[in-house]
Amino acid sequence: MVTVEALEAMRSVEFFVVSDKSPRGGMPDPLVAARGRLLDVHLGHEPAVARIEDPARERRPERTGTQAEYEAAVEAWHEARSMAYEEALLAYEGDAGFLVWGDPAFYDSTIRILERVARRGSLELKIDVIAGISSVQLLAARHRIVLHEVGQPLHVTTGRRLREAVAQGQDNIVVMLNRVIDLPGLDDWQIWWGGNLGNPSEELVAGRVADVMPEIEAARARARVAAGWVMDIYLLRAPDAPAAVEA
Ligand SMILES: C[S@@+](CC[C@H](N)C(=O)[O-])C[C@H]1O[C@@H](n2cnc3c(N)ncnc32)[C@H](O)[C@@H]1O
Repeated sequence: MVTVEALEAMRSVEFFVVSDKSPRGGMPDPLVAARGRLLDVHLGHEPAVARIEDPARERRPERTGTQAEYEAAVEAWHEARSMAYEEALLAYEGDAGFLVWGDPAFYDSTIRILERVARRGSLELKIDVIAGISSVQLLAARHRIVLHEVGQPLHVTTGRRLREAVAQGQDNIVVMLNRVIDLPGLDDWQIWWGGNLGNPSEELVAGRVADVMPEIEAARARARVAAGWVMDIYLLRAPDAPAAVEA
């Protein structure tokens, strides 16, 4: 899932900044290992890596329940992460690479955090962004589908905000960042689900929501056991939406 443009960029930088979430949980961070494998395979030399401990982030449901609490928790975490990035960038010479998961345009704050570092002004930063393959694209490709009907809009949202999207009348919804998958009242919708896409533990399930939910739960559990983590994404389509056939 690494484009030729990304490979060229990876080979051109002097060092990589890698943020590691493992110290908090005690377990190795599997995404750090995944990034390490990418560098091993594609670089041809030992990379210089500035490893930073990812600052703790408030995730307790009782402290992040409202939108305002959630945004405050994210804001504090962005500030702490930007300080850690700045320290790493100041400690090394030359261009730095950040290996963003998927594409940085979807639910990733690397760009925002680097802009924060740039605003502080202790470094002169020029930020280049290389497009990646997002889980949104991979979900569509794996299921061999178009995400929306001919000329229709597509709504991309988070598990937290799914109800809001349904209430708005959206009928083609891609849902990311799922702590759980809970779809009350959507039994007759169609779902195309993918877990750990692009990983050897990848799982795919598609069908009518009420029919395939047990299969999805089982696939999520399998992916978690196989990889030590699970990330999943799905497309939901309302029962009365026209079939997705693109000319
Ligand atoms: C922090 S966001 C990052 C998204 C990423 N920038 C992208 O382009 O896919 C993480 C969420 O993306 C989705 N995701 C990321 N990688 C995935 C994968 N390999 N398989 C399925 N979903 C994935 C999941 O919804 C996960 O909760």
